[in-house]
Amino acid sequence: MTTRYQAPKGTFDILGAGAAARSELERTAQTILSRAGYERIQTPTFEATELFSRTVGEATDIVQKEMYTFEDGGGRSLTLRPEGTAPVARAYIEHGLHKQPAPVKLWYHENFFRFEAPQAGRYREFSQIGAEAIGSDDPAVDAEVIVLLSELLEAMSVKDVRLRLSSLGTPSTRERYRAQLQSYLEANIDALAPHVRERIALNPLRAFDAGDSATQAVMSGAPRLMDSLTSDERDHFASVREALEATDISYEIDSTLVRGLDYYTLTVFEFTSDALGAQSGVGGGGRYDGLIEQLGGGETPAAGWAAGVERILLASSAAAPASGPVDLYVAYTDVQYRVAAFQLATAVRTAGHSVRMELAGRSLKGQLKQAGKVGSRFVAIFGDEGVSLKDMDSGDQQVVKPEMVMHWISRSQAL
Ligand code: HAM
Repeated sequence: MTTRYQAPKGTFDILGAGAAARSELERTAQTILSRAGYERIQTPTFEATELFSRTVGEATDIVQKEMYTFEDGGGRSLTLRPEGTAPVARAYIEHGLHKQPAPVKLWYHENFFRFEAPQAGRYREFSQIGAEAIGSDDPAVDAEVIVLLSELLEAMSVKDVRLRLSSLGTPSTRERYRAQLQSYLEANIDALAPHVRERIALNPLRAFDAGDSATQAVMSGAPRLMDSLTSDERDHFASVREALEATDISYEIDSTLVRGLDYYTLTVFEFTSDALGAQSGVGGGGRYDGLIEQLGGGETPAAGWAAGVERILLASSAAAPASGPVDLYVAYTDVQYRVAAFQLATAVRTAGHSVRMELAGRSLKGQLKQAGKVGSRFVAIFGDEGVSLKDMDSGDQQVVKPEMVMHWISRSQAL
């Protein structure tokens, strides 16, 4: 028996209406982002493993469990990109983009890879649309990127969207807060679930995600990172909020918002859709002021986001885009007319019309049925008496010169 191959677990093929919906999403993102000055960037599918392990963070789930890492023929350790911010930061440094006026604004639509347990909305190969604004610490940049993602989700009719917002402060603030939270957890250790106890030293923030009620009761009284912010950090956050309040976007402050990547500083945000079930995060991001310096570039503040393409489409109530109209179907009664039919189809297509030609050896009856199926406005039938042109709307049919077919199509479109 021959093996029937299937797409690998957590991956999928994109066909028909699914492909059309993605193209529509890409066009929408391109329109919204280019209006705000973003230029498209494409980076390689794989990068040096270290680029991700150093920036996303050695202790994160992505680096610990989810990366597709391999050694190439030259013995280099490479990783299929699990996210897009580190590659964009690498490209920014590599191409000296700091010489361009700040902020440098870049957007992408690419595929990413994470070895996760697949379920609805969570895949091993997925796509993101992302935007990064590099080179400015102005709180208006944070607000602008949030507004752009909100606009994209609205334009795509994503249902039941909520925005959560927080500030993580700088790494030194976080260090201080972490120590404070650790002592609080130690003081309440008896009430904590065993898996939370074990992680006090490694990742105390995870305690906020615990599902059991005893840990949740302890955490409701735990110190909050936002209360540990310095006055500069507070001012930055207040300015982001002030700018957002000048728009009609509503948001909730969520001081427990943690993102699964280590490079964030100050503002972080996440858009969720209640239409999505367990994997409700439709897009998120924040500021990452230390990332470019960490990769060997100059001191360069930056902010951005990425949104999951599959999740946007799952949560969208927009109808799938219809395929474009077909202007002409070229049929023939006998194979001797095939070349003439081919010539006409090519000429009318070159003139900018949408044309299908018989390519599957159907009978004339079958060809006319097919022309009806694709919804063609006209059918040109090559036969012994020349070319008959049938108007499928009115049912009228007349013999015409082949060069007049174009005229009839254009005339019908002008009406
Ligand atoms: P992230 O939150 O890890 O952030 O991913 C962004 C979005 O990608 C998520 O909100 C989700 O919609 C989608 N996503 C993530 N993992 C999967 C998966 N396994 N299957 C399907 N969709 C998924 C980042 O990646 C950051 N680079 C965002 C960023 C840009 N921050 C600053 N700039």
